[in-house]
Amino acid sequence: MDRQGLQGCSEGAGAGTSGRIGSTELAEVLDDAAGRLLERHPEQSKEWFPHELVPWELGERCGAGQTPPPPVDPLPEGVRSALFVNLLTEDNLPHYFAALADAFRSCSALGEWSRRWAAEEQRHAIVLRDWICVTRHLDLVKLERARMRQLTSGFDPGVRAGGLLDGVVYLALQELATRVSHWNTGRLLDPVGAGVMKRISADENRHHLFYRELVSAALAVDPSSTVEAIDRQVTAFEMPGTTIEDFSRHARAIAAAGIYDLRLHHDQVLKPLVVTQWRLDDIAALDAVADRSRDHLFGRMERLRRVVERLDPPTTERSDPPAS
Ligand SMILES: [Fe+2]
Ligand SMILES: [Fe+2]
Repeated sequence: MDRQGLQGCSEGAGAGTSGRIGSTELAEVLDDAAGRLLERHPEQSKEWFPHELVPWELGERCGAGQTPPPPVDPLPEGVRSALFVNLLTEDNLPHYFAALADAFRSCSALGEWSRRWAAEEQRHAIVLRDWICVTRHLDLVKLERARMRQLTSGFDPGVRAGGLLDGVVYLALQELATRVSHWNTGRLLDPVGAGVMKRISADENRHHLFYRELVSAALAVDPSSTVEAIDRQVTAFEMPGTTIEDFSRHARAIAAAGIYDLRLHHDQVLKPLVVTQWRLDDIAALDAVADRSRDHLFGRMERLRRVVERLDPPTTERSDPPAS
């Protein structure tokens, strides 16, 4: 994230134009909403233990200093690519946490949330790595070298400009996209692997709901600034794994496997959020600049829809994750 662009709760208010509020006031609105969401989070998140999801008996083949054989039936390339990208993306948590801790440093509820969120995210890498280690679905030496390269080289989570608002919009999009990717990976695994991905996907969904509600709170007090932030973040959106070596090749394999592609991005991320949840087309109180931004956003989504229809006709094999 752009460290200068993300303003925290105690930083200076911007001079609002008509119908807009300053950045300090907006940060307070977001922090108040985060406080309410934090109160309900423990009731909604079920405690779970990574070690209980891992079939440890498979690890008996893997003594210290030995190189156990790969599985007899290797997973298809697209599924292996998804596991590789998904795990390395989860492994990048130190970089995400550094960005969030900085962005939310002076916001009490958002700061508390960032620590809880990081603790939950860490479980994802733990359970995925343990499961992959015992199943040997990936080359563990290549995986570890890729993790070292990725963590060492640093990472820009993709929020290019804007402030705190842009950050929460990006996170709402990214958590939903990650949820879809994990869910669809699980559909192509055995029941144990599917259980691992289902559990992670459920966490990502709760994270998504948290950020989605923050954006809704911002829309209620400053629809014009929020619509502009949504337009910016939809336009610039990148999944956090794009810095992984050979990402383009993995992304093509992942798309070919039906795990994540442009259609899913449009149908299961952008449309449900922008149209169904945030209902941008129903907002009447936009100023002229924000109105143009909304037109730009809907124009972009329509072009994406047309590209998808042309390149990728709908199939009957896809399934939606459970409703948010
Ligand atoms: Fe995660
Ligand atoms: Fe998450």
